[in-house]
Amino acid sequence: MKAIQVGLLGIGTVGSGVFKVLKRNQEEIQRRAGRGIEITMVADLDTERARALVGDGVAVVGDAAQVIANPDIDIVIELIGGYGVARKLVMQAIDAGKHVVTANKALLAVHGTEIFEAAHRRGVMVAFEAAVAGGIPIIKALREGLTANRIQWIAGIINGTTNFILSEMRDKGLDFDVALKEAQRLGYAETDPTFDIEGVDAAHKATLMSAIAFGIPVQFDKAYVEGITKLGAQDIRYAEQLGYRIKLLGITKRTPVGIELRVHPSLVPTKRLIANVEGAMNAVMVQGDAVGTTLYYGKGAGSEPTASAVIADLVDITRLHTADAEHRVPHLAFQPDSMSNEPVLPMSEVVTSYYLRLRVADQAGVLAKVTGLLADAGISIDAMLQREAGEGEKQTDLILLTHDVREGTMNEVLTKMQKLPTVLAPITRIRKEELA
Ligand code: HSE
Repeated sequence: MKAIQVGLLGIGTVGSGVFKVLKRNQEEIQRRAGRGIEITMVADLDTERARALVGDGVAVVGDAAQVIANPDIDIVIELIGGYGVARKLVMQAIDAGKHVVTANKALLAVHGTEIFEAAHRRGVMVAFEAAVAGGIPIIKALREGLTANRIQWIAGIINGTTNFILSEMRDKGLDFDVALKEAQRLGYAETDPTFDIEGVDAAHKATLMSAIAFGIPVQFDKAYVEGITKLGAQDIRYAEQLGYRIKLLGITKRTPVGIELRVHPSLVPTKRLIANVEGAMNAVMVQGDAVGTTLYYGKGAGSEPTASAVIADLVDITRLHTADAEHRVPHLAFQPDSMSNEPVLPMSEVVTSYYLRLRVADQAGVLAKVTGLLADAGISIDAMLQREAGEGEKQTDLILLTHDVREGTMNEVLTKMQKLPTVLAPITRIRKEELA
């Protein structure tokens, strides 16, 4: 059978990895897919560099529209990134009846509903394994491997840059700014690291997993997003003393009143495997009612790990290319006419436990006032730590771990606590997840 023809839009780090791995493993990939898969056309603004990378026999153009207009191309791989040009090209490719493979989490998290609807109408596939956790086949696991389950929650370390920074802060006692510079020096963090360190990249990925896990539309605008820029090295140390590590988690959870969708730093018990995922690695925990807890670990970025996911999508599409569109795996795991409208909860309705650090005057009655406010609101304390005040010091750090409470209630208590004259600095609050 004639090889399936692929057009690649953007041959940067991931694109060149796709090209290399497809070539290197050509024979085995063909044996799996049932026919050859060939990149026959590449579009990149830097045509000279692209030509040097792909060699002869592949058409290189500067205008991506030429790839989409080519009737011989069956699948378009979009590796341009961002919401602008990429969105236009993906929509054009779908209109032209091409299947699309993309690693573009931002595009799908924000415009996924429009894109998946268009693809469904046109009877083409949009595959995006590479958009979440790079080389880890988490989309496949959620959409197919765990399809028997009612998924209860997902919690993932889905941004390697921030996990690297947190590991450096813990290992070397570095402050955030110093660890960020190190991440930039090693090429983990971009020159503008905002999307990573502010949690936006992780929230894009959590949004996609949430949609697939619960059969709800992609709703990035409803996600709660908090990054790691305000974390202090002392909180990492105190958490350690209490038996926890701080990780930036992407969490989505089913509750009786709606879906939680949030990204923020979280204390995780050190004894959990996921707490020990260090450096730029990614890991995702999924809890299903039948399977129990599962854990997926691997590289979340990089040329060949991400290429591994892109090529898996190419193979899937190749296998299903001739299948009736109704018999393919639905884009978001659930049949489009069986999506749920369960609401994504506002953060004030999320129930979780907390780490609180208070800078307080070291005098009689301070602890009673603080714990009194918690008791009045029905918030139970799980553990407590007080740093010994240094010689002649009149202030100290008070660290409290609470049991579960609704975030709105905790916010009210924190407002009152902050006003106590003996609380001398802004209170640090970090959420805690037991992931049991
Ligand atoms: N910048 C991301 C990370 C990889 O650090 O994990 C691409 O989403």
